Amino acid sequence: MKISSLFRLAGKIALITGGTGVLGRTMAVSLAENGVKVIAADRNGAIPKEFTERKIEVMHCDVTSESNLQVLHNDLKGEYGQLDILINAAGGNMPGATIAPDQNFFDLDMKAYEKVVALNLTSTVKATRFLAPLMVKNSKGSIINISSMTATRPISRVLGYGNAKAGVDHFTKFLACEMAAKFGDGIRVNAIAPGFFLTEQNRGLLTNPDGSYTERTQDIIKHTPAGRLGKPDELLGAVHWLSSDASSFVTGSVIPVDGGFSAFGGF
Ligand SMILES: NC(=O)c1ccc[n+]([C@@H]2O[C@H](COP(=O)([O-])OP(=O)(O)OC[C@H]3O[C@@H](n4cnc5c(N)ncnc54)[C@H](O)[C@@H]3O)[C@@H](O)[C@H]2O)c1
Repeated sequence: MKISSLFRLAGKIALITGGTGVLGRTMAVSLAENGVKVIAADRNGAIPKEFTERKIEVMHCDVTSESNLQVLHNDLKGEYGQLDILINAAGGNMPGATIAPDQNFFDLDMKAYEKVVALNLTSTVKATRFLAPLMVKNSKGSIINISSMTATRPISRVLGYGNAKAGVDHFTKFLACEMAAKFGDGIRVNAIAPGFFLTEQNRGLLTNPDGSYTERTQDIIKHTPAGRLGKPDELLGAVHWLSSDASSFVTGSVIPVDGGFSAFGGF
C-alpha cells in the first residue's frame, strides 16, 4: 500500500471546537486543504478570512452549554448525517484562574478555577457526549482532544488549567477503552499535548504589553530542547496522522508535540 493513501482524508467530515482560535483554525485550514469538509464551532462568531475560500463553515457554539451542543448536534446530523473527525480544541487558560507571582495557593479564586475546569475538561466530555453519536452509526471516527504539557508535569500558577488538562488525558484513555469495548476498534480516541505556542489565551502569560517575551517564556524556552516556541503548523503532522487510517491501531495515546519539553529533565 502506498503510504500516502494511508493519510488520505478527502471526503471526511470534521468538527473542530474552538475552531476559529489560533491552533483550531490552523488545523481547520489544513484539513480543508486536504479535502475534508470542516466545520469550526466556536463561541466567537467571527469568520477568519482564510475560511471563506476554503468553504470552512463556522457554527456558533459555546461548548459549556448543553443546549448549544444539542443544537450543534442537530445541525450536523441534518446537514451531514455523520462525523468522522472531532477535535476538541476549545479551551485555554483564563487570567483570573492563575495564581499571581505575589499570591499563593490560598489566594486561588475558586470561581475562576471552576470556570477553567468547566471549559477545558467538562466541556471536552460534554462536546464528545453530544457529537460522537454521529460516529457510532458508521462505527468509525477519530476523536482528538487537546491536552497540554502541564497535564503531566505541574507548571507554576496555572492550577485549574493543569488539573483540567490532566483530566483530559484521563478522559482520553478512559474513552478509548470505552469506545473500543462498546462500539469496536473503528472509533479511536487520542490527544495531542502541545508544547508552547503563542496564541490568544496565553498571550498575557507569555508576552509583555510591548510583545517581548516574559521571564516565564524565557524559562520555557530554556526548558525546550528545540530552543523556541512552537509554530501552529507544527501540530499538523500529528493532526493528519491521528485523523487518518495511518493511525488505525493508535488509541488512548497522548502525543507530545513540544520541541522536547517533556523529555527535558533539568539542568
Ligand atoms: N497555545 C498553546 O501553547 C497551547 C498549549 C497546550 C494546549 N493548548 C490548547 O489548545 C487549544 C486551542 O487554544 P489556542 O492556544 O489556539 O488558543 P486561542 O485562544 O487562540 O483559541 C481558543 C479558542 O477557543 C474558543 N473558546 C473559548 N471558550 C469557548 C467556549 N466556551 N465555547 C466555544 N469556544 C470557546 C475561543 O473563542 C478561541 O477561538 C486549547 O484547548 C488550549 O488549551 C494550547
